[in-house]
Amino acid sequence: MAWDILITNIKGLAQVRDSTLTVLSGSAMADLPVIEEAFLAISDGKIADYGEMQSLPNVTADRVIDAKGRFVFPSFVDSHTHLIFAASREEEFVMKIKGASYAEIAASGGGILNSAQKLQHMSEDELFERSLARAQEIIKSGTGAVEIKSGYGLTVADELKMLRIARRIGEETPLKVKTTFLGAHAVPKSHTKSEYIQLVVKEMIPAVAEEKLADYIDVFCEEGFFNTDETELICEEGKKYGMKPRLHANQLHRSGGVQVGVKVNAISVDHLENIGKEEIEALKRGNTIPTALPGAAFFLNLPFPPARDIINAGLPLAIASDYNPGSSPSGNMSLMVALACIKMRMTPEEAFNAATINTAAAMEILETHGSITRGKTANVCITMPIPTLAYLPYSFGSQLVGQVIINGRLIN
Ligand code: NIG
Ligand code: FE
Repeated sequence: MAWDILITNIKGLAQVRDSTLTVLSGSAMADLPVIEEAFLAISDGKIADYGEMQSLPNVTADRVIDAKGRFVFPSFVDSHTHLIFAASREEEFVMKIKGASYAEIAASGGGILNSAQKLQHMSEDELFERSLARAQEIIKSGTGAVEIKSGYGLTVADELKMLRIARRIGEETPLKVKTTFLGAHAVPKSHTKSEYIQLVVKEMIPAVAEEKLADYIDVFCEEGFFNTDETELICEEGKKYGMKPRLHANQLHRSGGVQVGVKVNAISVDHLENIGKEEIEALKRGNTIPTALPGAAFFLNLPFPPARDIINAGLPLAIASDYNPGSSPSGNMSLMVALACIKMRMTPEEAFNAATINTAAAMEILETHGSITRGKTANVCITMPIPTLAYLPYSFGSQLVGQVIINGRLIN
């Protein structure tokens, strides 16, 4: 027997868990198990063994990486992105700097409709190439699994085009990809809202299901977009076709998104910039995973989700990037962890748990991803030499993920 890769002299091997692991809630989020002076062995794309250096078995390896002074942790799992888009939107960025709100930009034909127009005019191959570059960028920054949404198509053909590209990203990169149909992201100018909802329900959902293009269904439940009744209707239709709901909820207003998410048994409700006691009580009644997207709150200057209230209520909390051109033009999960610590008062341990285990649970891939566990997919980050793991969010904006292994293969 020989291992494919053996990492030795690891300063701290973080997030070591056994296979009984489930989503982490409340005070359990504070604990991040670390083996100091550790080794990690990889074989056939899986985590084969790990432990203290002094108990390293006498097994040869094709490649040995000396991680002296460096930490190793499981790749980030990013459970909320819109990384398929045609073009960036810096013109709106400047409008925002000059005082326009997200809602004002959207109402003036910017926002999601702006991205949709650009995407509709782009060929599938060109859109794939641009999206592939973003996928490669997030791999280098330490993401090993990602959820990708449609929602900039807003026609049957263009929504399918986006989801086909999302599936292709999963086939042509080492990323583990789950896909989400977000036809109900905005109402295009060509339709009234009720006409567009009919299109989503009667044509888009069946067409997406026919090609098996989406694992989940999402709705932008928000004032000026889709209300709670419309959200519920669309989710229930998606469920009939095997797509579980996950929602954009409470980003700009207390729109009832969280409550409807719990009602339709959504896997997650994401954003949560505008929640209070009622939403937290609703979450306690269900199994829906609250997910904060600190990049979007940061970029739009919104209040940050009340992480302490959520965790103190005994709930789980996940952290994802929301990588998209309008509200979070970054898919860098180290930065999201830093923002969670700095702006949401999460400890580094809580933030790492939120961005690995809890996002893996929110993507229903915890059996294979999110922790250092024997038999799980060998997706790991090796940091630059750093004094402590807390240094990673502390030194925000630095690229401290040095090397990345995905599916047991060294990427860089
Ligand atoms: O998650 N809020 C809705 N959707 C995205 C932003 C979309 C856009 O502005 O392009 C979000 O923030
Ligand atoms: Fe989003």
